[in-house]
Amino acid sequence: MSFEIPITKIVKNLSPSATLAMSAKAKEIKSSGKTVYDLSVGEPDFVTPPHICNAAIEAMKTGHTKYTAASGIPELKKAIVEKYKTDYGLEYNTNQIVISNGAKHSIRNAIFTTIEIGNEVLIPTPYWVSYIELIRLAGGSPVIIQTEESNNFKMTAAQIEKKITLHSKMLILCNPSNPTGMLYNKNELEAIADVALRKNLIILADEIYDKLIYGNNKFVSFPTLNNALRERTILINGVSKTYAMTGWRIGWTFSPENIAKKMGELQSQETSNPCSISQYAALEALTAPQDCVAEMLNAFSERRNYVAKRINEIDGLSCPEMGGAFYAFFNIQKHLGKKFGGVQIDTSEQFCLELLKQKQVATVMGSAFGCEGYVRASFAANIDVLKTAFDRIADFIENR
Ligand SMILES: Cc1ncc(COP(=O)(O)O)c(C=O)c1O
Repeated sequence: MSFEIPITKIVKNLSPSATLAMSAKAKEIKSSGKTVYDLSVGEPDFVTPPHICNAAIEAMKTGHTKYTAASGIPELKKAIVEKYKTDYGLEYNTNQIVISNGAKHSIRNAIFTTIEIGNEVLIPTPYWVSYIELIRLAGGSPVIIQTEESNNFKMTAAQIEKKITLHSKMLILCNPSNPTGMLYNKNELEAIADVALRKNLIILADEIYDKLIYGNNKFVSFPTLNNALRERTILINGVSKTYAMTGWRIGWTFSPENIAKKMGELQSQETSNPCSISQYAALEALTAPQDCVAEMLNAFSERRNYVAKRINEIDGLSCPEMGGAFYAFFNIQKHLGKKFGGVQIDTSEQFCLELLKQKQVATVMGSAFGCEGYVRASFAANIDVLKTAFDRIADFIENR
């Protein structure tokens, strides 16, 4: 080769999404004809409910196939405002919303609008894989707050305070959490809010799993705690997880108006509007009766109970209670440093790769979430897949 297009340092140093990488490996094995029990992906196995698909078809038929306002259609913004008012008593106006190509894009807009070189962003670990890379792309420095399994992977106000410097600008709050399923209660959130207010932090509150809450747990949306929090919170949500709409790519932010205006301008230069048809589908999702959400939640709840039981029955594995989302994050430390099927396994990455190779079960290594010694299994897979997958995980561990 005589010429190679040079790649920028910033993109060279970018780590690909580990969850997508594991799911690509699982697909590769599937394409060789083997059945793979895939617990790696963070997406509901349900198809998008028919009334939402029909709204998209109707949108196409009625000509909603052109550019929309870059920050989204007014009808959808209004529906989002109404939903937050009804569900959480939160009063926002439509100028505070930017609708984007999925919640990941919303997070990207929020970070690029507020974070620059020299800014530190506090992130509790285990964290969702994209926060770190997006902060680095913006020139910011991620500062890790190490949480403990013994405290259900919850960060405490004291831990946040310890990490604060003159350069601290933002705190990431993912509630319920991907990858652990941890859910903060009101008191814990109040303690976090208190530090944020005293230390002048912006909060990026990622609440994409707010409708997937189990048992007697109660979800509290962060800005409901205190009016002063709304000035410093960028709230993230979307339709991907609640309505089984991962492929439609609709997410949004609530933020102070000046931030929303700038995020809208950023988006207008980078991507223009999110897909017009998807916006009409999201409008239907939010405004139609919510029975489909309740049905999916029931199924997730049954799977969550099943997965928790199986994990705690397998030799040496443990995981804290999953209050929300659809992930179990289990401890494999007892098994590291041992041989599985003749192969030495010292890291969560090796564990996941061998589990996939030897038992065709796809999971994601804890190290991808900044937490070695753990494995994430998604229970957004049907119960038969979960049963076989956990039989195989038990076999992998107990008959090695
Ligand atoms: C915590 C968290 N935030 C944001 C996203 C992104 O959602 P979307 O598919 O709408 O971009 C995900 C998806 O996995 C997630 O788990």
